[in-house]
Amino acid sequence: MIELHRVSKVYSVGPVKVPALSEVSFGIARGEFVVLTGPSGAGKTTLLRLLYREDLPTEGELEVLGYPVTTLRRSKVAALRRSIGVVFQDAKLLPGRTVYENIAFVLRVLGTPRREVTARAFDALRAVGLSARAQAYPAQLSQGEAQRAALARAIVRKPALLLADEPTGNLDDTMATDIIEVVKDIWAGGTTVVLATHQAQLAAALRRRMLVLDAGRLVKDEG
Ligand SMILES: Nc1ncnc2c1ncn2[C@@H]1O[C@H](COP(=O)(O)OP(=O)(O)O)[C@@H](O)[C@H]1O
Ligand SMILES: [Mg+2]
Repeated sequence: MIELHRVSKVYSVGPVKVPALSEVSFGIARGEFVVLTGPSGAGKTTLLRLLYREDLPTEGELEVLGYPVTTLRRSKVAALRRSIGVVFQDAKLLPGRTVYENIAFVLRVLGTPRREVTARAFDALRAVGLSARAQAYPAQLSQGEAQRAALARAIVRKPALLLADEPTGNLDDTMATDIIEVVKDIWAGGTTVVLATHQAQLAAALRRRMLVLDAGRLVKDEG
């Protein structure tokens, strides 16, 4: 599902070179739940961005869902991204639209027939336990609910892969536990998950395979 071969990423900030990833290699099989951890600045976000082809590596090769990411043509990039759901620390909902509309929007962009849009949007809302809030606006949601909505939006296209970048970063412990449970449910439904968190305790509590980055290097792969 995912293969990285000696992937490095160096950011150029003017004349300054900032190494973010150094010769990272690993594989992730379909159906795995992998926790990507390590301190702030270790390269977690950079790595996720390479997986959904938001950015390209400076060196090395990676394959995601059978796509050779570094040599993909534009049309295939769109296909790759459609197969990946992404959530961030911030839910990034459209403030002027209801929860339902935020999710339905993703399907409409794909030209999904109207009847199917409603059914699938509600399926996604049900999967994250947010059906009752479908008509609420983002400003009316708790941060935990907003993050559930973001997860519903990420899975409504039924992606093979879910990438979550610090999804609990804005949440208190109770809401964080909640969101983790939702992510686990999504995984149990057959979606491969890569969850990045700098919170070592949370990472350990998940009891899943853990990839540990430190200063851009993969220093541990265990579990
Ligand atoms: N767009 C960017 N331009 C320059 N440097 C960046 C950029 N994004 C990240 N970095 C640097 O790359 C390193 C890894 O950052 P990041 O992937 O965000 O780590 P993490 O998500 O683990 O906190 C850090 O040194 C960071 O400052
Ligand atoms: Mg990050």
